[in-house]
Amino acid sequence: MPANLKRTLLGAAAVLGSASVATVQTADAQTGTSAKPWMNTTLSADRRADLVIQAMTLPEKLSLVYGYFGTTASWKNYVRPPESLADSAGFVYGVPRLGVPNQWETDAGLGVATQRSPHPRERTSLPSGLATAATWNPTLATAGGAMIGNEAFLSGFNVLLAGSVDLARDPRNGRNFEYAGEDPLLAGLIVGSEIKGIQSNPVISTVKHYAFNDQETNRFSVDVKIGNRAARTSDLLAFQIAIETGHPGSVMCAYNRVNGVYACENDDLLNQVLKTDWRYPGYVMSDWGATHSTLTAANNGLDQESGWMFDDKPYFGDALRQAVLDGKVSLARLDDMDHRILRSMFANGLFDHPVAGDQADRIDYAGHLKVAQADAEEAIVLLKNCGGLLPLAASAKRIAIIGGHADVGVLSGGGSSQVYPRGGSPVPNEGPDAFPGPEVYFPSSPMKAIAAESSAGVVYADGKDIAAAVRAAADSDIAIVFATQWTGESIDAPNLNLPNNQDALIAAIAKANPKTVVVLETGGPVAMPWADQVGAILEAWYPGSGGGEAIARVLTGAVDASGRLPVTFPLSEAQLPRPVVDGDASKDGGDLRPHSHTDYEIEGAAVGYKWFDLKGLKPLFAFGEGLSYTRFAFSGLKAEIHDGRVIAHIDVANIGARAGKAVPQIYVSPVAGDWEAPKRLGGWAKLALQPGAIAQVDVAIDPRLLAVYDSVSKTWKIAEGDYKLILAQSAEAPVMAVTVHLPARTLDVRGH
Ligand code: BGC
Repeated sequence: MPANLKRTLLGAAAVLGSASVATVQTADAQTGTSAKPWMNTTLSADRRADLVIQAMTLPEKLSLVYGYFGTTASWKNYVRPPESLADSAGFVYGVPRLGVPNQWETDAGLGVATQRSPHPRERTSLPSGLATAATWNPTLATAGGAMIGNEAFLSGFNVLLAGSVDLARDPRNGRNFEYAGEDPLLAGLIVGSEIKGIQSNPVISTVKHYAFNDQETNRFSVDVKIGNRAARTSDLLAFQIAIETGHPGSVMCAYNRVNGVYACENDDLLNQVLKTDWRYPGYVMSDWGATHSTLTAANNGLDQESGWMFDDKPYFGDALRQAVLDGKVSLARLDDMDHRILRSMFANGLFDHPVAGDQADRIDYAGHLKVAQADAEEAIVLLKNCGGLLPLAASAKRIAIIGGHADVGVLSGGGSSQVYPRGGSPVPNEGPDAFPGPEVYFPSSPMKAIAAESSAGVVYADGKDIAAAVRAAADSDIAIVFATQWTGESIDAPNLNLPNNQDALIAAIAKANPKTVVVLETGGPVAMPWADQVGAILEAWYPGSGGGEAIARVLTGAVDASGRLPVTFPLSEAQLPRPVVDGDASKDGGDLRPHSHTDYEIEGAAVGYKWFDLKGLKPLFAFGEGLSYTRFAFSGLKAEIHDGRVIAHIDVANIGARAGKAVPQIYVSPVAGDWEAPKRLGGWAKLALQPGAIAQVDVAIDPRLLAVYDSVSKTWKIAEGDYKLILAQSAEAPVMAVTVHLPARTLDVRGH
């Protein structure tokens, strides 16, 4: 049954299914609108915000810009406000007299997190952000966002500190698992799509951490050096695309400094780039402990101090009141801060659909688990599959499962984004006691799921005793080793090696049984000295609440392997722009090295695969790489210019024997070769095809990706000349190319 599908890449609508917004009590828009004219829902968010501000007193205006930590901290003699939600990230007082709701803030991008607590909220976790990026499927990202936004709302929160889009500039960054990889287009579209889903609920999402929070080492003070063009073409472009796609109500500024100035008092980043150039209408909140001043921060663009307890002083408390009274921060600026906050609250339904406290008993956990599992299934990347070892053969009688606590669950990443599983972690005592620990596992056992999906007998060895594991592998038809790398906020990985002697374990198992499959649960790229010795390799990331089932379904072939790498896997640290991370990777906190800096000008905008291209380096696995269980033929590449936009037409055929999902990628490359790197990802498609089916796909290229940013005129300039469109299976696997001649064109700073 050949299907002939015509699809356009951008603008796919999300199917939200069970994760749609629960019915909520709608605030009465009629009664009381004369006393509270801002409750007139026919007015614009901006107008409604202005009307509230006209009615506010100075103390009320000040209260909206001053955030509390939502967790009692005995080590600082700090008691959380009684109105906040226990063990939560943040709280901001509203104005009850005027019906301005409080802001209840929770982390983060993978689900509803809880700060360290004996009684954490137990909620559904999406796979890691990097995993969602590996789906290359914005529709799934939106569905995931809608799901976690719904859980946030039903948990009593109306602000979700999600939308992490810092680029994976360094594969050792301890928070890469929260982010969406190394490419500004892929990361921006995936994260923007997730934000769109979150905000389909009456919940504000952030996008964070603005900007260049690309390493955890010395994160509180590290000074990132980067030039304007490189900045605009890399991390800032990822933020720009995420903001255009998702319209987050808030931007969270980062801990680090950028070109000498803290991100949360950085006029260039906040007032110029974000608010002037991009016309961002929402508010900037600081990261927790990232505010360093009153006057400078307020005047340079910070709109709300978060979790003031973490700052040296309560900068936006009394000090801001005094500054306004003294005229050092103008009343107009305070009104602007409030306007931005209130505008986002109106635009996202916080007034009209007020959060109604803890209604967690209304969460559809079964439906949400399906959303998380669907995301994980498309995120898993099949990196190697020798001799068709996978899908697992029905003839296998005995399978040895080794290591990674695969008998009970799957790993997650640590820190403020930690979602706690329903029923608790099945591995309670692993990892550091202190932040960002402990190591938390989700009780979704790959072993049990494999046993349920296949007819083979399954035996388990925990892998700590290598000899016992080798015996189990030798006695089995197939050995599956689960290798883990726990990473977390505040610490970068010391190197790219798997910890705890797992490389030796894998090498020993591979020697005992050539049919060895390695399943990786890692925060990001790892080195694989054993890659040539094993039969198959699957990267499963931190796969979330339904991760064990998702892994089993890919291993058995119940679903195709359709993830593709959103980040380059280097052979070793020697291939990186910084073979050693600047500063001491084992230490969190700039206080130890207050004047440290890191030079991002080394690679500039040539992040990830662009660096590898530029330097002619061959990675272990390339950006965009990933195998499928079927075979696809890519052909018919044609370029067309439509309304000034370059569109690539391609034909994709499933020429294998089973259904699968293809990810044709279009890279763009100037023949004159004067970009930061030989090529950039210009677009892609992800499409499901039955055997024998052919689809025609259009991929529209964002004109900024064909341009060079000009810092003086603040424009994107496409130079007249020939450009190659390369249809590829990965950054390293071109299939065919066409050349298109483009006229010179100048786009404004927003790419219009
Ligand atoms: C993290 C943020 C988080 C905040 C609140 C900070 O340490 O960097 O991502 O949202 O804490 O928990």
